Amino acid sequence: MIRSRALPLLLAPVLLALSACGPGGPSRADAAQADTVTFAPGWDFPRGSTSPVNAQRGMVVTTDRVASEVGAEILHRGGNAVDAAVATHFALAVVNPEAGNIGGGGFMVVRMADGTTASLDFREAAPMAATADMFLDAAGNVTEKSLIGHLASGVPGSVAGMWEAHRRFGSLPWAELVQPAVSLAEGIMVHERLANSLRSNADKIGRFHATARVFMPNNRVLRVGDRLVQADLAQTFRRIAAEGADGFYRGRTAELVEAEMRRGNGLITRDDMARYRAVWRDPLRFDYRGHEVISMPPPSSGGVTMAEMLNILEGYDLRAMGYLSPEHVHVFAEAARRAYADRNAYLADPDFVPQPTARMMSDAYAAERRATIARDRATPSAQVAPGLGAPPREGTHTTHYSIVDERGNAVAVTTTINSLYGSLVTVEGAGFLLNNEMDDFTAKPGVPNQFGLVQGAANAVAPGKRMLSAMTPTIVLDPSGKVLFVTGTPGGATIITSIAQAISNVVDFRMDVATATSAPRLHHQHLPDTLRYERAGLSPATAARLRAMGHALAQREGFQGDVQSIMVLPNGVQSAVADPRRGGAAVGVGEVRRVVQ
Ligand code: DON
Repeated sequence: MIRSRALPLLLAPVLLALSACGPGGPSRADAAQADTVTFAPGWDFPRGSTSPVNAQRGMVVTTDRVASEVGAEILHRGGNAVDAAVATHFALAVVNPEAGNIGGGGFMVVRMADGTTASLDFREAAPMAATADMFLDAAGNVTEKSLIGHLASGVPGSVAGMWEAHRRFGSLPWAELVQPAVSLAEGIMVHERLANSLRSNADKIGRFHATARVFMPNNRVLRVGDRLVQADLAQTFRRIAAEGADGFYRGRTAELVEAEMRRGNGLITRDDMARYRAVWRDPLRFDYRGHEVISMPPPSSGGVTMAEMLNILEGYDLRAMGYLSPEHVHVFAEAARRAYADRNAYLADPDFVPQPTARMMSDAYAAERRATIARDRATPSAQVAPGLGAPPREGTHTTHYSIVDERGNAVAVTTTINSLYGSLVTVEGAGFLLNNEMDDFTAKPGVPNQFGLVQGAANAVAPGKRMLSAMTPTIVLDPSGKVLFVTGTPGGATIITSIAQAISNVVDFRMDVATATSAPRLHHQHLPDTLRYERAGLSPATAARLRAMGHALAQREGFQGDVQSIMVLPNGVQSAVADPRRGGAAVGVGEVRRVVQ
């Protein structure tokens, strides 16, 4: 990846701090328990191919090096993990415009060093004029309008989310945290990842004039080394810096959003913008083999679905089965199949739909679900119904970053505009892409969305309602109650299975952060009835055995997920890895040389 040179002065202190390395790496305290896992021959990321970044004074890991450096700089200045999250979030909106964006929304999970936990819902909300059948044509068929164009957007939540997180936990001045995004929007050098994504999405980007003007100036897609100037976005960030959330949800920015909607027959009004609120929800907590897991409750399905999966898996000795052995893969797929069947039927915005989350997460229910898993035979999804009775009748793109500061405060945030480049609509004059999150609602019960998720009526569109998400920002504590692992990923429906595996890799298989992140991933989501795996992720013998057990195996195109994790080692060192599948970066404050893993 080519590094942008956009912020040389701003970053100088961090780089100085990085060169002031500690006195050699601490040794791994639990070496006696180190894992002995091996991956299948031919797997792209064999053991030892990925090195963690280690630091003692704070760590930021994101999908983009510049955004990680911005966050690390805030930590270096004495900001806490939430301050760093705000600066990182807005920096990502500029350097990773196709994914992390102020035109979208997301979820934050926080665990402060004093033990306070919190989870913040800044998911987009349907505009007040939205209706349950707005994505159906006259014949009742689902149209592409939930994915492309103005109707696809929910009211954005990111700015309200950052404002609210900062109001409750922040310590540095707000404007100081927004300023890096202003500077970056004034011009950055296009790096490889952005250039590749622009090239492969050029046709789509060209469909909307204001979007094309930013990313294809003079009708030519920007290439590596070109300068990306987002002047309107810089102005929007100046308003946000000066006026806080009001600089986005009221006044000029809200007027520009409404004008854009009028031009494209969309629904979001100034009133929708003004009424948007980020909501603190009780974080979802459950125990996995003596480790407390803190994750996101609905309207994310991530925490509940992952809890059901891991509770089912807790009944098996996965380590004894062997990593990615047929037995391990089989029970993983069966647990996922059952948990997703429940997810797709029951979960939705809790402000609109009552849902059996406590039952879904209970040990008793996990035992019931586990009892239906045959030892050596896949259960066809057609025979796996949601397990808690009739659901109520009514009711790729994303980015994740993880931060731990010197004091031990931890933040996990997953944020998205849904597909790459969202609805493809850039708000004229305001310079940001709008999400196409409305596709996460059930456009029509039984009809799959872009992720193939077949969802029910509980998740139907309604005015002001938040669409169900799979985003799963998560913090895992060790048995003594200290932060052990901060994690999350993009990947649509696969987010939950990716994070369940990351946690199981650490807890069951005692992998270090590099191995846990580079390990091959699996996915099953009930429907379609397919167990997907990454190329060479399973050995041919394991794949053959799983087929013989009745699993419909399919090798996925490309990789699954882009997990950004930090592990806090027993000696307090923060050890982080950006998923090698895509090429983000971990940046530590006071990095130490590589710890023997
Ligand atoms: O909230 C969700 O579950 C989806 N909108 C996330 C989309 C996503 O992860 C796409 N990125 N690969």
